Amino acid sequence: MDKLYITGPATLKGSVAISRSKNSYLPIMAACLLNPNPVHLKNLPELRDIRTMLNLLKKLGVQVEKKGNITTLNAANITSTTATYDLVKTMRASVLVLGPLLARFNKADVSLPGGCAIGERPIDIHLKNLTKLGANINLQGGYVEATCSKLTGSHLVLTFPSVGATENLMMAATLSLGKTVIENAALEPEIADLAHFLTLMGAKIEGIGTSKITIFGLSKISDFCEVEYEAIADRIEASTYLIAALITNSQVLIEKFNPTHIDAVIGVLKDMGANFEIGPDFIKVNKSKLSRAKIDTSPYPGFPTDVQAQLMALLAVSEGSSRISEHIFENRFMHVPELKRLGCQIELKGRSAFIEGGSKLMAAPVMCTDLRASAALVLAALSAQGTTQIGRVYHLDRGYEKLDQKLRQLGVEIQRVNE
Ligand code: EPZ
Repeated sequence: MDKLYITGPATLKGSVAISRSKNSYLPIMAACLLNPNPVHLKNLPELRDIRTMLNLLKKLGVQVEKKGNITTLNAANITSTTATYDLVKTMRASVLVLGPLLARFNKADVSLPGGCAIGERPIDIHLKNLTKLGANINLQGGYVEATCSKLTGSHLVLTFPSVGATENLMMAATLSLGKTVIENAALEPEIADLAHFLTLMGAKIEGIGTSKITIFGLSKISDFCEVEYEAIADRIEASTYLIAALITNSQVLIEKFNPTHIDAVIGVLKDMGANFEIGPDFIKVNKSKLSRAKIDTSPYPGFPTDVQAQLMALLAVSEGSSRISEHIFENRFMHVPELKRLGCQIELKGRSAFIEGGSKLMAAPVMCTDLRASAALVLAALSAQGTTQIGRVYHLDRGYEKLDQKLRQLGVEIQRVNE
């Protein structure tokens, strides 16, 4: 297993380009199952989760071909509608093949994702609303066995603006008979990105970017056409590098992303004293003196749960007493014990973490537990005195493309060692 060795305190300099969004491309790749024509995806990020989704699609019969920065997926001849446990257990987003398979083939067997480090993460909202579209759902042997004669449009109201459920239902609705309305749809930018992709393919969608999405089902899959598409930039990666610049009090240019996708993050950091120059597709971070924050994670456009761990590392070295309350997942403080090993002063009470700022972090061996917790450890290591050893970096490989190369390019002393 690989380990990262990061020597701090680091000073970052120069610029870093943000990769395309994992959380956009995963549903877009699943949506390719709807289309009998080739789909050409540009600059697919080299991430473990992307490779897992490609492997799953290949197992279903999708032809995958990479030429330069274009990956072509061809779902003309699907040979299976079963997503097996061995793949789904490594990546919950595999459940996103359920809607497209059911819509096109009237059948899908998808393993239940099972537990996850950050929470139970059920899929009841997905299943309840697919049933409203006409699916017969049977939970058998750890699998969702879904069948239908033909999905039929319906008026759906999500009990929670679930990102995955909105994506699954939107994809299913593109081939359902008649009109589907999804109320209380998630507002994350990745949802609009998927809707733009589906529309480019030929789907009929209204209300993109709002919490009420209307989809007019196509009558046949040949209504879909061959397309080329590039997803939006990864707003969580961009937020992570913003915090890397701030935690090292450096001057860094972070480019090739849309700052309006992280308004809530920018707002909190500016309130803490961050000094930014914000352009249409970049943010220049200047040296800043930072103080405390009190935040609650919430669905978009609120403060994203995926940046909670990273902010906690920053608050530990900023001045003052801070609080972070996590409202999206029930167990998303796995980074706290590891951050405390580096000298962060954090106390947990229920859904809230109370952070005493001003800590001088010291290097220590730490362990990754989940994707964003791992990012918090990397950020803390940038600030800690000495060389921090970070284990189980495969968690990081799920969502941060070329992390060690990008940090090295910013001037960080970082080594990746296979031990
Ligand atoms: C997506 O997960 C992201 N993953 C997550 O990013 C992100 O943290 C999450 O949205 C919230 O923004 C991808 O896009 C691949 P949800 P998803 O359905 O779709 C509960 C990362 O770090 N819920 O909005 O699974 C659920 O338990 C990952 O890149 C139900 O109860 O998120 C959770 O508490 C981590 N029933 C909350 O809703 C359901 O049927 C949010 O889940 C569905 C969800």
